Amino acid sequence: MNFVVLCSGRGSNLAALLDAHEAGRLGGAEPVAVVCDGHHAGALNVARERGVYATFVPRTAYHANREGFERRLLEVLAPFRVDLVVLAGFLRILGPTFLSAFPQRVINVHPALLPAFPGQGVWADEIRYGVRLSGATVHFVDEGVDTGPIIVQGAVPVLEGDGPDELAGRIRAVEHLILPQAVRWLAEGRLEVSGREVRLAGQGPAGRPGALIWPPLDHEGGKVLKFS
Ligand code: GRF
Repeated sequence: MNFVVLCSGRGSNLAALLDAHEAGRLGGAEPVAVVCDGHHAGALNVARERGVYATFVPRTAYHANREGFERRLLEVLAPFRVDLVVLAGFLRILGPTFLSAFPQRVINVHPALLPAFPGQGVWADEIRYGVRLSGATVHFVDEGVDTGPIIVQGAVPVLEGDGPDELAGRIRAVEHLILPQAVRWLAEGRLEVSGREVRLAGQGPAGRPGALIWPPLDHEGGKVLKFS
């Protein structure tokens, strides 16, 4: 399964994917290209340092022309036999022109527990709102903003004194675990989508699920309760 990664920023999720690939943890998924929407994106260097083809389609050249931008993206991807598109910090909303080329084959990582806090720059909003738990979500991309069927989520506590950067860093550590895992499940053909529901076939050697309660209860640590 060939995948491309679309990025706008530093590319830490891209690096996590490439690490997982090098470690043989992507279940046969092969990164074939990285495409950024500007030439400053750090992700371009991350890719090139690892020997993965990287290029950019400048979003500024397609200001109010989303369709033109998406058509150009498709042209850039055409030479690669792309089975999966991974959005890893890609700051453009993709519409029907792009998505119809990859039905149920585009996934995104989002730094919140969707459907709470969709959109960009959510960390400050989460802190202002006073949520105690946040986290990361990997989901299929549909035409809405962060609305597609959810594949996997991971929760983290919001700690006293957190600013957006501290919270983003804690969430990012979870993103780096769940995004490569989702790619692996897709490569192994283990995800089945039916409406909003995503089923994972053949659970691995999973531990028992637990509850994360934050702030912690007086008599226990942060992780309590085990379910069978
Ligand atoms: C991540 O927090 C991701 O959830 C969001 O953009 C950020 C990208 O970070 N969509 P990086 O470029 O992978 O470091």
